[in-house]
Order: sequence, then C-alpha cells, then structure tokens
Amino acid sequence: MDHAPLIDPFLRPITYLRVSVTDRCDFRCVYCMAEHMQFLPKRDLLSLEELDRLCSAFVGQGVRKLRITGGEPLVRRDIMTFFRAMGRHLQSGALEELTLTTNGSQLARFADDLAAVGVRRVNVSLDTLDADRFAAVTRWGRLDQVLEGIRAATRAGLKVKINTVALNGFNEDELFGLVDWCGAEGHDLTFIEVMPMGDMEEAGRLGQYWPLSDLRARLAGRHELVDIAERTGGPARYVRLGGSGQKIGFITPLTHNFCESCNRVRVTCTGELYMCLGQEDSADLRAVLRGSESDAPLREAIRAAISRKPKGHDFDYSRARISGQMSRHMSHTGG
Ligand code: 5AD
Ligand code: SF4
Repeated sequence: MDHAPLIDPFLRPITYLRVSVTDRCDFRCVYCMAEHMQFLPKRDLLSLEELDRLCSAFVGQGVRKLRITGGEPLVRRDIMTFFRAMGRHLQSGALEELTLTTNGSQLARFADDLAAVGVRRVNVSLDTLDADRFAAVTRWGRLDQVLEGIRAATRAGLKVKINTVALNGFNEDELFGLVDWCGAEGHDLTFIEVMPMGDMEEAGRLGQYWPLSDLRARLAGRHELVDIAERTGGPARYVRLGGSGQKIGFITPLTHNFCESCNRVRVTCTGELYMCLGQEDSADLRAVLRGSESDAPLREAIRAAISRKPKGHDFDYSRARISGQMSRHMSHTGG
C-alpha cells in the first residue's frame, strides 16, 4: 500500500472493490435486464487502461480484494489484458484476491487464462439445473454451455461458487437438487434474495420473491444447519450442513443486518463510484481519470467519496409499493 488506507465515517476500512467492466451481457436474465436493452456507447465506458489506473489507485489505498463484474465481464473485448494487469498486484502481494462474477457462458474459453493470472475463485450465477427453466429465466442462455464452463473452471483449478437467485414458484422445488449437485461437485452455494431491479414484472411471471428465511427453514427440515461465524464484510451469512460439512450461503440484500460490517464499494463501467448499493449517491471518477494524467486527483476523489459513505441502505420490501427501488439496472452497477 503506497497511501493511507480508506476508512469511512463509520470507521469501516474499505478493503473490497467491485468493478463492473461492461454493461453488456450475452444473457437477459429477467430480474436483471429488460429484453431489449439500450447499451452504452463505447466512449462512455472506462477503457481498459482507465480501469487499470482506477483499480490500481484503490489497491494503492488498501483495497485487498477485487471482484470484476458486469454485465458479463468475459464478453468485454480483450478483457484478459485487464486481468493480466491486475495479476501484477497479486504478484506484488498488494492484492490478496482477484475474482469475478460471471454467468459462465465464456468460462470454457477463459478458465485457463484466468487461472494463469492468479484468479483462484469464480462466482457463477446459476438459478436452475433444468434446461427449459434456464432458458426462460436467462432468456438467451443455454444451460449446457454454462455447465461446460463450470467444468472447465474446475479443471483449471478454480474454486467455483454458485450464486442462485431464489424465486418461489420457479426454483423452490430445486432447493435440494441444487444443494445436492453442489455438494457432489464440490461447489459452494449461495442463495440470493431477489432485489427490486431488472424487469420485475416479467420476473414476477416466473416466480415470486422468496424470503431466504423460508428457504432456510426448508433446508433445516432436511439438514442440521450449523452457523458459521465467519463474515466476509458483505451481505452473505453461511451455514454448514451437519454431516457433510457442505457450506451454504444466504445473501439477503433487503435486510439491514450487514451494513455495519460493510467493507466494500462499487464502480460502474462508466466510472461512477457508488459508496452503497442501496443509495443513489455516487462520484464521477471517469471525469477525474480523463481530467488528469496524474493519479493524485483520482486518489483525492476516491478519499472524498469514501468520506460520504452512508451508514446503510434504503431498500424496503415491507411496503405495498416497493420503496427505495433503484432506478439503475444491476448490469450497470454490477452484481
Ligand atoms: N436480485 C438479486 N440478484 C440479482 N442479480 C442480478 N439481478 C439481481 C436481482 N434483481 C445477480 C445475478 C448474479 C449476480 C450478477 O447478480 O443472479 O448472481
Ligand atoms: Fe447477464 Fe448476470 Fe444480468 Fe443475467 S444476471 S443478464 S447473466 S449480468
């Protein structure tokens, strides 16, 4: 670390950065995107060089974990150039972990390269093991392509974590199927409560908001659940299944129970820094990047933004109308 660490007003050290490298995706998941998306013109996106400068500035100020998201990060042209650039921070020891969240469609192509630059883990979004359901929820995706990508990642030595969005009436009858498949394949599994984003009307046709408290209760009907104290600074809580020791995570973005340990911020593919996923306040880092070749103003803008990081988010499902609904799509801010 070349510069003082980033500490927010609530004394939370900011050590985790999520960066979206594209708003594009080769899928159109109903809870994430509209079918016909207007994507951003290329000039609005941070270039790969700008992404490198930006991430390096965060790493220089104490960020230890970097997660690359999208959209689908692996559809961004020449993205391995950026991954290789971040790999140098792993080699120097400045960065502890470089990971990505992916839909898995391109993993068969990139798994070996990702492993070679030092990526150890990938999160793969997978809501169902049924090919027809998969096609329905992703609109454009093919299950076998993703399963092939997951196998390629495993062969390359990457640890795969499966992220499953819980939708009652859609995948609630696959709860045990998904748990058993992940157990057999050696993948960690995390369930995510659906957030009010994307095309919620169409998502609603497929399934309904499924509170993870209910999912957890059903799981407890079949397995002993042992709470794991470990927190990652994010919204996930983990249990182990008695007997097998299989790890299951729960992400409940709509509850406030994790904000106090929040260690993370996000940058969109256009260089807006969001201090909190559930708040609108952001800082335009692209203007700063493009305004100066020196990284000093960039570091200063990052510090100024972190000093405004709010205590918690504003999502609220308890009202009849969803309040705190975000106008941004998940593909813009990054999942
Ligand atoms: N609610 C919950 N999770 C979402 N994701 C995308 N949109 C939503 C939403 N509305 C998840 C994806 C993937 C990650 C990129 O974000 O399923 O796991
Ligand atoms: Fe693409 Fe992921 Fe959004 Fe699905 S959830 S459309 S895979 S970015």
